[in-house]
Amino acid sequence: MRFLIIGDVIGRTGRKALKEFLPSLIDQEKPDFIIANGENAAGGFGITKKVFDELISLGIDVITSGNHIWDKKEIVQFIDQEERLLRPANYPPSALGRGYGIYKKKDKKIAVINIMGRVFMGIPLDCPFRTFDEIYERIKDSVDYIIVDLHAEATSEKMAFGYYVDGRADIVFGTHSHVPTADEQILPKGTAYITDVGLTGAVHSVIGMKIEQPIQKFLTGMPIKYDVATGGYLFHGLLVEKDEKKTEIRRIKIKKE
Ligand SMILES: [Fe+2]
Ligand SMILES: [Fe+2]
Repeated sequence: MRFLIIGDVIGRTGRKALKEFLPSLIDQEKPDFIIANGENAAGGFGITKKVFDELISLGIDVITSGNHIWDKKEIVQFIDQEERLLRPANYPPSALGRGYGIYKKKDKKIAVINIMGRVFMGIPLDCPFRTFDEIYERIKDSVDYIIVDLHAEATSEKMAFGYYVDGRADIVFGTHSHVPTADEQILPKGTAYITDVGLTGAVHSVIGMKIEQPIQKFLTGMPIKYDVATGGYLFHGLLVEKDEKKTEIRRIKIKKE
């Protein structure tokens, strides 16, 4: 199976990059299954039904998220109805939505699990490590592939998690920092791993947002509203090919200034 993974898609600019680059990438690389993190897909904060449908119409199979999942009010109206939309599994059990799903493609059962880190995230969630253990025990005998979007800030937490689940998950990809890391690798027990896939969004931006606004925030210490940056755009992705014989991992970067 060939998996194409896309990190945080940032607003209209990110969606424009997807529309421009994804069709030819699908043609060339022929992925069997595509996952994208959509927590910033609508105006940089959250996701709406319309934007969800737009991403799915581009051929994306599952949309993961993170701390921004609740930012658009309408999410509570549709998250329970959308099996292809995930929120972190380590939210309290009473939270709306689901933290993982099992999807069928090419006669294979693929589990996608969305988990959020706790370091520098400011949200009191359950332990990401034990959350994985619980879900793993529940699903391990009934799926062919297990893929984790670990939505976290600290590189150390993500790497520790990668090694913790090595050999149990097939792919662990990090999201949330919006900055890609160059550490894609196959861990000793076979898990394909990257600390962060990086954003799909504006080239000249601060993590996808208009440059002046975060600068003002740092200069003044005051809360400043952020808007999605426009202009040239960038696509960051990860391709993982995995079967009984081999695992391959490759980063993709496409840019249009
Ligand atoms: Fe994000
Ligand atoms: Fe995030």
